[in-house]
Amino acid sequence: AAPVTHEAETATVSQGAAESNHTGFTGTGFVNYDNTAGGYVQWNVDAAQAGTATLTLRYANGSTTNRPMDIAVNGAVTSSGKAFAGTGAWTTWATTTVTANLKAGTNTIRATATTANGGPNVDHLKVDTATTQPPTGT
Ligand code: GCU
Repeated sequence: AAPVTHEAETATVSQGAAESNHTGFTGTGFVNYDNTAGGYVQWNVDAAQAGTATLTLRYANGSTTNRPMDIAVNGAVTSSGKAFAGTGAWTTWATTTVTANLKAGTNTIRATATTANGGPNVDHLKVDTATTQPPTGT
């Protein structure tokens, strides 16, 4: 299946807000995490079958300090303290990827800020399950 883009501004947000004051986002905006640890964006992601997926997070970090986040799949952290390094400006967007095992059906993907600076501004999550193959013989 083609990659599916899930916007942050329509996901579940805790300790953050949908904003649109920095250009370059997809959809209608992005999520600005509060400057505190523990804020998150959580997406529901459907997978046709169990397997590995590439998760691409698009973000901006106009500060010069990393804005690390834990990436959790179905409640378990699979990527701890991923950096989300500075991108040079709040209008300069970059992507970073993690690999995750998804189950068939609905999965939750949560990106949680781990430092007092909060997360970066997050534009979207793109999920690519193209590498997932059906079992042989089917
Ligand atoms: C600025 C910027 C916000 C950003 C914030 C931050 O206020 O305009 O978009 O989220 O810095 O440091 O987190």
